[in-house]
Parts: sequence; structure tokens; C-alpha cells
Amino acid sequence: MSAKKGPGPRPGIMEIAPYVGGESAVEGQARVVKLSSNENAFGPSPKAMEAYRATAPELHRYPDGGATRLRTALGKAWGLDPERIVCGAGSDELIALITRAYLGPGDEALYSEHEFLMYPIATTAAGAKPVKVPETNLTASVDALLKAVTPKTKMVFVANPNNPTGTYLPAAEMRRLRDGLPPSALLVIDAAYAEFVTRPDYTSGAELVEADGNVVMLRTFSKIYGLGGLRLGWGFFPVHVAGVVNRLRGPFNVSSAALAAGEAALADTGFVEKTRAHTERWREWTAAEARKVGLTVTPGVGNFLLIHFPREKGRDAAAADAFLKARGLIVRRMERYGLGHCLRATIGQEDEMRAFAAALTEFAQAK
Ligand SMILES: Cc1ncc(COP(=O)(O)O)c(C=O)c1O
Repeated sequence: MSAKKGPGPRPGIMEIAPYVGGESAVEGQARVVKLSSNENAFGPSPKAMEAYRATAPELHRYPDGGATRLRTALGKAWGLDPERIVCGAGSDELIALITRAYLGPGDEALYSEHEFLMYPIATTAAGAKPVKVPETNLTASVDALLKAVTPKTKMVFVANPNNPTGTYLPAAEMRRLRDGLPPSALLVIDAAYAEFVTRPDYTSGAELVEADGNVVMLRTFSKIYGLGGLRLGWGFFPVHVAGVVNRLRGPFNVSSAALAAGEAALADTGFVEKTRAHTERWREWTAAEARKVGLTVTPGVGNFLLIHFPREKGRDAAAADAFLKARGLIVRRMERYGLGHCLRATIGQEDEMRAFAAALTEFAQAK
């Protein structure tokens, strides 16, 4: 065998454990209930599907690289300056772009203990060091984050609410975090699940994003808007950060189909409201069912629940996962998040949640 040809990757890249998405099939099961990727229970909005289909005859044309219509619509919907909005192929792309832009060897980025795995992955890919910060009750701790800041800290990630724990920091805590950070660090607020949250003390963090500041907010069309397959996200940035991200991104990084479907999904407020109300109702119902049979459930505000299992062979999360899978129910294992005793379940349709709760009850009550 000949030796590999070509240059090696930059230092650090081979240290990355690649992100593994939720499973979508079970061997031997023709029909499965996929509750493993925090997707929309109802699929995409019918209006988004219609807009998507309507792009077909124009697919030979390049998309509007400036995403002007969508940014204008987002600005109007959320009361934000569209000039400071940048769209990406999922918020994952925006996470990758800002880490590439601002982090390099010698820099550190803070993230909380059980936070979304793309932060350490993107930080490592940029050649910088991800620093894991302890949480309190599976919730990001502002005190611990501020304590972990060093002169090397260039970025601080907060998923609010967080995936996979579902917990959130109230607006006052986010402000305290922002106020305590040095101006040399960029605070990245990832509000992927913001549209699901109805708590009065929660905000997406958009109000903390000042034109000349050091705070950014990321959002996605993959969750409440049901467009995960199209890859569409957006960020609200200080002017100087928007300028940097616009320089670094591909000129046509968002497809014309994603732009059109995104605009229609944003306008379909009835669909969004239906999803939000359904999710809240069935999230609380499912949590109550799990608690009834003695399981601990982290109080989450997104479209998923983190369910804890005893650390006892045969009754643990691995056994529960196998039991659910045998019934065609796919949830997410949490070993990669250091939560091997938990499973994360997305809120699906009513019949799916009834089937899930029934299986969970059967599992928990088995002798
Ligand atoms: C906290 C958080 N941020 C970002 C994303 C990625 O979203 P997108 O599909 O827009 O890349 C996810 C997806 O699961 C998420 O949970």
C-alpha cells in the first residue's frame, strides 16, 4: 500500500469526534416514530411546501446572495434591522463561520457542560480550545461562566434554551452575563428553540445585540418552522460582525428553495402557533406521564424532554432505549453529552406521544 498523498489537515481537526445526528430507522421495523432530532411534529408548513415547489422552474437561476426578501421579512417580523441580519445554511453554518472568523490557536471558547455539541466541534475546527464550564441543575451558570473567563477567552456560547437539557436562563441572567464579559469576548446566544418558549422571564436575547457590541444571536428555521431538511438559519449581529460574516460566507450560501420556503414559513403564523401550543401541551403531558412512573424529567421549555433513568442494569437508559426501539420508537442517546443515564425525546404528534408514554410506562413498571 502506498502512503497517503496530499497535505494533512490543520492541527486539531483530526481530534474532532464528528457530530452524529439522530437515528431515523430501526432494523426490522417498517414504521418508526422518530423522536430523535427535535424536528417539527407536524412536518413543514403547507405554505412553505407550496413556496418550495414553486421555485422548481427557476432552479437554474442563482439565488439572491443577499437574501434580501427574507432578511426584510425577518426584520419586520422581529423588529430588527435587516442590515444586521445574515442568513446561513442552517445556524450550524453560522456557528462555523463565526468560530472561523474570530477563533484561532491560543484562543479559548467557553460552553456549558451539557450544551449543544457543535460549539466544541466548531471551536476545535477553528484551531482554538473549547473550555467546558460546570452547570448548576443542568442549567448554564452565569457565575461559573464569568469565573472561567481568562485573557484567552474570545467567545462564550449560550444555547438559550439549551439542547439537550431544555433548560433556559432568564433575561436578567443573560444581561448579567453580557455585563460581566470583557469587551474582547463575543457572546453567542443560540436561540434555536426561542419560538417555543412562553415563559414571561425569557427573551431570545435580540435586545442585547447592539450595533457596536459584542453579542450575537442565532436562530433557525429547522425547529418550529419545520425546515431542517432545507438548511436555513439566521443571525442578528452587530454591524462589524455582520460585515465579517458576509465576507466569509459563500456568496450563494442559502439556496433559492430555502429562501422561498423560509419566507412562507415565517408568514405562516397560524402554523407556528399551532406547533407551539401542541408542543407545550404534549411536552407537559409526556413529562407528567413519565413522572407518574417514577422517572425524573428535567423541566424543559423546548420541543423535547430530557428523561432520566436509574443507573441500574436492565432499568437504565440503554435498556429503555432498546425497549423503545423494539416498539419502533426512536429517541436520542445522550452519552456524547455526558448524560448517559438520560434519553432525549422530541415532542411528536399526539398518537406518537401516547405510544411513547405507554411504552415508557410499560418499561418502568416491568418487574
Ligand atoms: C441549540 C441548537 N443550535 C443549533 C442547532 C442547529 O440548527 P440548524 O439546523 O439551523 O443548523 C440545533 C439543532 O439541533 C440546536 O439544537
